[in-house]
Amino acid sequence: MRSAARDEVDGLWRCELRAGTTALPSPCLVVSWTGVLRDCARVPLPSPALVSWCPSRGQTWWVARTWALVLAAGAGTRFGAVAGGASKAMVSVAGRSMVGWSVEAAGVACDGVTLVVAPSMVEEQYTGVDVIVEGGDTRSGSVRAGLATVPGDVDVVVCHDAARPGASAGLFERVIAAVRGGVDAAVPALAVSDTLKRVPEWGDSGGVVAGTVNRSGLFGVQTPQAFRRAALVAAHDGEPEATDDAALVEAAGGTVMAVPGEAAAHKVTTAADLVVVEALLGGRGSGDGL
Ligand code: CTP
Ligand code: MG
Repeated sequence: MRSAARDEVDGLWRCELRAGTTALPSPCLVVSWTGVLRDCARVPLPSPALVSWCPSRGQTWWVARTWALVLAAGAGTRFGAVAGGASKAMVSVAGRSMVGWSVEAAGVACDGVTLVVAPSMVEEQYTGVDVIVEGGDTRSGSVRAGLATVPGDVDVVVCHDAARPGASAGLFERVIAAVRGGVDAAVPALAVSDTLKRVPEWGDSGGVVAGTVNRSGLFGVQTPQAFRRAALVAAHDGEPEATDDAALVEAAGGTVMAVPGEAAAHKVTTAADLVVVEALLGGRGSGDGL
């Protein structure tokens, strides 16, 4: 056992379970679980044999604290100019801003929300946001800016593009559950439905097809993406760049799980995407206009 100290509140021993744990004092409150499930299990006298099953056997346990980073600091170049010079993330869809939808879903599923915005948006008022921080020049830089604001006792961090306003709270919960289950990261994925061609050189009038890619086993991934905090922090070491964070965790040798995605979590990249998401979100009703 790595650490044990008498808990000041209820007299239990506070314990951390790790690989190689051979004994625990009794009675004990397990406060850490092999780096994945923290703030964790109130278990009756776990022995080494019990350690491997205690959460899944339905004991009473407190799950890891979760924190969402809602990324809204992009320039929206492909979307084009927004009236009044506003950011793409503040564009309204189905009655409220993309930021408003994204923050709401994140807040339902997570214990806290950091909103990462462009410098021009820092002074705005936002509902349901715990921390507002200025983003970086790239998406990866914005994630790092957000990550720096996450409280120390959080173990699962969820990165979400504000440009996916249709992602439901249930989708956040699905990726979080997968990380709690023991993987380093979890991403929503939808099977690719278009036929895929390789076009090595693409010019103004198109390009010559070099071949067709077998799409079986190919998935498009979305956000929210959930991470074991330590895995996300390690993956960002050295300030690497990628279009999503799961790619960085993969590159660092981590285990990434794909879970079923949602059509409504479609990303608003161009103005045409707004029409698609508007239609997908229309039935949910509008919020408070944020
Ligand atoms: N993002 C960010 N900080 C950046 C770049 C992107 O927070 N420096 C966020 C965007 O606000 C968006 C998400 O990352 O919610 C996905 O990025 P993307 O769809 O590419 O949006 P933009 O970068 O804003 O658009 P574009 O690439 O066309 O400029
Ligand atoms: Mg971009």
